[in-house]
Amino acid sequence: MKLFQHVSDIGDLRKALDEAFEIKADRYKYQHLGKNKTAMLIFFNNSLRTRLSTQKAALNLGMNVIVLDVNQGAWKLETERGVIMESDKSEHLLEAIPVMGSYCDLIGVRSFARFESRTDDYEEKILNQFIKYSGRPVFFMESATVHPLQAFADLITIEEYKDKTLIEPNPLFGGNALRRTPNKRPKVVLSWAPHPKALPQAVPNSFAEWMNAANVDFVITHPEGYELDPLFAGAAHVEYDQMKAFENADFIYAKNWSCPGVTRPNDYGKLLGDYHDYASWTVSDRQMAVTNNAFFMHCLPVRRNMIVTDQVIEAPTSLVIPEAANREISATVVLKRMLQSL
Ligand code: CP
Repeated sequence: MKLFQHVSDIGDLRKALDEAFEIKADRYKYQHLGKNKTAMLIFFNNSLRTRLSTQKAALNLGMNVIVLDVNQGAWKLETERGVIMESDKSEHLLEAIPVMGSYCDLIGVRSFARFESRTDDYEEKILNQFIKYSGRPVFFMESATVHPLQAFADLITIEEYKDKTLIEPNPLFGGNALRRTPNKRPKVVLSWAPHPKALPQAVPNSFAEWMNAANVDFVITHPEGYELDPLFAGAAHVEYDQMKAFENADFIYAKNWSCPGVTRPNDYGKLLGDYHDYASWTVSDRQMAVTNNAFFMHCLPVRRNMIVTDQVIEAPTSLVIPEAANREISATVVLKRMLQSL
């Protein structure tokens, strides 16, 4: 695998999941693959989980790891071609990328949407330059439009829990939860939730893309105007009534995202209205009561009592910690596949 951006890059999902569970049972099984190989992780934006889990994945595979926070210690990078470089940006991405590539075997990049231009964001202007000029396999660690390492970890988590009638004690808060009617094909709901800042669409885009490819019944719920790009939403059922969407759900995946600019092109990257007016969308016991004792998921970091109440995220059915832990597994599978393709 030379590129990890879309669900199609991982190929057969059943095979990828089997590989994930193989690695979960013995995460050092492929330690020999990374000997004398280096992973470079480039961060244009902050991270906790992606930074730590991807480093751990590289270490699981016996790799060396170099982490660069572009905005802390590196030269400020110009990303536009053709500009006269008279600002505080001392280096151009077009030189920096091949230099980075010369020090490593694989490159992971995090570069969020800038919300300056929908076209630039949705054409993945930054990440595509890494693909073109680094000379190395590139994996997306959350780009302007996708977060595939997260979506793969989410799928692993759903696969792990979909048939469970009794879940293990919640690692944070203890307790067991009985699911009422385990399903073979679970109902998974992606729910928009309020947030005080405009957030990118990368997580919901990838979650939608991966759920559409998985063996689940997938529903998206959000207020009008937040329609995801059809490239990712595909044929998923969109239900504007959140309570109706939650009925008999097995998994609730909450996330905020800003206007994707599909039905309201002039509002791309904006909040549509005052978030206080959307308080009823915060995931609480009220909505969870109509589900099939659903598991709660969120990619983290999460704003409590904004996206989800304390009660729901602390309930035994909250999967946020095992979901985050699976980031190590998804990253190990992806880096392993890339090492095998060198
Ligand atoms: N979920 C996720 O990507 O977390 P970080 O932003 O902390 O990496």
